[in-house]
Amino acid sequence: MKKQLFYSLTSFFLVVMSIYFVGCASQGGSESSSKAISDKELGLRKADVTTEQKVNLPPVKYTEESPGTGKLLPTSYPTAPPQIPHTVEGFLPITKDNNACLNCHSPEVAKDMGAVPIPESHFIDPRTGKKLDHVAGARFVCVTCHTPQANAKPLVQNTFKPAQ
Ligand code: HEC
Ligand code: HEC
Repeated sequence: MKKQLFYSLTSFFLVVMSIYFVGCASQGGSESSSKAISDKELGLRKADVTTEQKVNLPPVKYTEESPGTGKLLPTSYPTAPPQIPHTVEGFLPITKDNNACLNCHSPEVAKDMGAVPIPESHFIDPRTGKKLDHVAGARFVCVTCHTPQANAKPLVQNTFKPAQ
């Protein structure tokens, strides 16, 4: 009885090992037949990744709508930051002392400016979960998350579909 168990375990082990070796062999085969990818093809910008010279970014046409005239685009998923439907010309850079976005989007003034008020989530300290009386530091640089709408082709095609 014990001997039988020993034999069946051994043959099981041999089967597993042979599958493993076949797997390794076929992997090695495909590796040697694939071509190396050149430095220039690695990044999205299709330029040598080791130098900043001669880097031409694809032209991007950002929206020129002034605030109040743009149209919202659907967001990719329910909690995604909405894209900015108006130009940001003259509003950047955001500095410690000058954040033009707040001039229109602060809850105190938004209504009068016809703008969407900054939501409550932006006043919550992400570390403590406590409500603050000012926009949380992590939300201060609005353009970290909100980007102006642009007519740009995807650099990499994908089949992503927004969640419903
Ligand atoms: C002069 C006032 C003004 C300034 C400055 C301004 N906005 Fe706006 N923003 C608006 C108005 C008005 C809307 C409403 C819709 C529109 O413009 O098409 C809006 C819409 C938005 C929306 C879309 C909100 C939604 O409902 O989904 C975002 C995001 C946004 N702005 C971000 C910004 C950011 C970031 C900045 C700073 C770089 C900024 N805005 C500066 C007036 C302004
Ligand atoms: C860390 C990322 C992040 C930063 C930074 C950020 N936001 Fe947002 N914002 C979001 C996300 C995500 C949403 C959608 C979910 C929500 O409402 O919290 C949003 C929503 C909004 C909306 C739409 C509110 C609505 O009711 O439809 C406005 C307006 C807005 N943000 C303005 C701003 C402004 C102005 C700043 C800078 C002071 C800013 N945001 C900074 C992520 C960010």
